[in-house]
Amino acid sequence: MTLRTLVTFATAIIMTAGAALAATHGGDIVYEKPVKGVIFSHKTHVEDKGLSCDMCHNRLFEMGKVAQEKADFVMESLYQGKYCGACHNGSMAFASNTRCATCHIGVKGQKRLSGGDKHDKKGH
Ligand code: HEC
Ligand code: HEC
Ligand code: HEC
Repeated sequence: MTLRTLVTFATAIIMTAGAALAATHGGDIVYEKPVKGVIFSHKTHVEDKGLSCDMCHNRLFEMGKVAQEKADFVMESLYQGKYCGACHNGSMAFASNTRCATCHIGVKGQKRLSGGDKHDKKGH
């Protein structure tokens, strides 16, 4: 086996494992509407912060990327405690009127996530 086939093989295994993990809890979601580039990561919420599925998948969110189709998926709703604002209220998690860029990763961050901008090491 050449080094190149070995690397390809290893990459395939890692990607399969990643996809399987994402399949168990939804993976990363990047919203495009009404504004582009808002990140929601299942990994940080479920694996790192230990939140259970039903904390969000009760009345807050469906198991599909559908919230952005709703007209009230805007900051004002978050400030009123809906959607992400149910937790991002300054007590359970950082408030929705702070740290804009933590949720709004923008178009550049979206490219980085999808592997389109691998040379950009900034942004953490
Ligand atoms: C902190 C909140 C939160 C937790 C905890 C959470 N989810 Fe999600 N999940 C979301 C949000 C937000 C969406 C997108 C909803 C929307 O856009 O309408 C979503 C979407 C999904 C999707 C659809 C993904 C897609 O790309 O279409 C699946 C599947 C899913 N979740 C499974 C799970 C499972 C299984 C768990 C528990 C292991 C879990 N989620 C825990 C917030 C959460
Ligand atoms: C069930 C509660 C809950 C809901 C709902 C929730 N979050 Fe969070 N989120 C947390 C907690 C807890 C943390 C970590 C604590 C902190 O950093 O203040 C966090 C951290 C984050 C972070 C920083 C870590 C990371 O993933 O990069 C982002 C960004 C984020 N949330 C975005 C969102 C968005 C966008 C939504 C709605 C689509 C959302 N969250 C809904 C609880 C929640
Ligand atoms: C907890 C995550 C989170 C934080 C923090 C956050 N936003 Fe948002 N923002 C969202 C989500 C989710 C949407 C709706 C989805 C989309 O537009 O892609 C949104 C949409 C928006 C929109 C378009 C809809 C509207 O309300 O007009 C603007 C503008 C906006 N945010 C500005 C901001 C500013 C400015 C800040 C900081 C003061 C901020 N956001 C902080 C999650 C967040």
